[in-house]
Amino acid sequence: MPKRPNRRSEARLVAARLLEELSHPGCRLDALSSHPEFVGLPLRDRRLVMEIAYGTERWRGRLDFQIQQLSRRPLQKLDRPVLWILRTALYQMDFLRIPHRAAVHQAVQACRRLGKSSAASFVNALLRQWIRKPPDLPQDDSVQSLSIRLSHPQWLVRRYRRRWGPELAIRLLEKNNSLPEGFLWVNPRKASLDWFCRRLQEEGIAYRVHPHLPNCLVVPSSLARHPLYRQGFCFFMDAASQKVACLVPIEGRRCLGDFCSAPGGKALVLASRMEKGARLHCTDLVPARLQSVRSRARLYRLKGLSYSVADWVSGPIFRAAFDFVLADVPCSGLGTLSSNPDIRWKFQEDGFKRMQQRQSRIIENAFAALRPGGELLYSTCSTEPEENEQVVEGFLSRRPSAKRCCEDFRSFPLRHDGQGFYAARIRHI
Ligand SMILES: C[S@@+](CC[C@H](N)C(=O)[O-])C[C@H]1O[C@@H](n2cnc3c(N)ncnc32)[C@H](O)[C@@H]1O
Repeated sequence: MPKRPNRRSEARLVAARLLEELSHPGCRLDALSSHPEFVGLPLRDRRLVMEIAYGTERWRGRLDFQIQQLSRRPLQKLDRPVLWILRTALYQMDFLRIPHRAAVHQAVQACRRLGKSSAASFVNALLRQWIRKPPDLPQDDSVQSLSIRLSHPQWLVRRYRRRWGPELAIRLLEKNNSLPEGFLWVNPRKASLDWFCRRLQEEGIAYRVHPHLPNCLVVPSSLARHPLYRQGFCFFMDAASQKVACLVPIEGRRCLGDFCSAPGGKALVLASRMEKGARLHCTDLVPARLQSVRSRARLYRLKGLSYSVADWVSGPIFRAAFDFVLADVPCSGLGTLSSNPDIRWKFQEDGFKRMQQRQSRIIENAFAALRPGGELLYSTCSTEPEENEQVVEGFLSRRPSAKRCCEDFRSFPLRHDGQGFYAARIRHI
């Protein structure tokens, strides 16, 4: 009888298979955590799949360079599932230091189990060649070398160098490859920050109170498995994203809108800050995503929210109805590469133009929903001017009744807590 695969090798196979599935256009790696195949795994294996999947995407450029050095066939000609088996195996040997023999054996088995037996000897030979002598990585600081060594597409390296200069660009590339810190938002509707911190102390969980953000703690990411987390006492949310949700004083504002609201992080923080009797209307283009905002609001016991599906690119859905509106628009996500490593491979530079067109329509239509005297907060999780300043400047130049309230907010991963976010406050005069 054939030997049953052990659990760890099953997890490794799942990682390679789901990476292949989620690398298709229109898919995102952050869908991994809710993928039925992933959810069905035991906790320990889920951790391993996460580590392999996120690490492999982070270092994909460098892994591909090494595979290409060892393969006579161009990468584009390799069978996709086989390529993902190679990438995950190399990542585990190089970065997770798993024993080489086990990695090779599992990669060969993975080929067979995915119906790719004909590729097994190629995979075996390539990995053994790597074990004998891993190809040297280029050590100079040319765009091409940095793109390989620090695993980013060349256009992004070029862009960083142009914007930030050679030294800062390297530090930013390195930062994008590091693990993001765990910033937690503690839900004031369920517990005070003092109470929550006492609970962590009693259980010996290390934490740090954020010096500037209300209800924010820096904690280990394992807290996501704690019962307090599952019961809606808190959730992980990047420090810069929390900051954006706290930027606008909303005291006295009764009718608020969050028009691109899913998955709901900022909506929940806003709802927790609202005065009694105020209402927050949440919309999103995608019904299932909006449903998840609704479920989260229930879990976090936040009141005063209503919901509707809406497409803010197509036209204004409401007119002169709100006194505060958040338009946290769809964007490239290039400010969040440390938590979304796959974005660097999926987004192309020519995508800015299409993105900017959508963003310009959303800002226009969201502004039309404001009453005179009301305020619009336009925000993105991008550091790139095409999606930020250029959208806002273009809009202000077309709309004389719109005025910037203050200097724009920009977080830069090398200087501030959290990742790269942007926000502009615009008043309807
Ligand atoms: C950056 S995310 C919002 C993040 C959310 N504000 C938060 O803090 O959790 C952008 C959202 O805009 C939604 N979206 C995309 N196109 C849209 C459109 N045309 N109209 C409304 N929402 C849209 C997406 O489905 C996505 O949920």
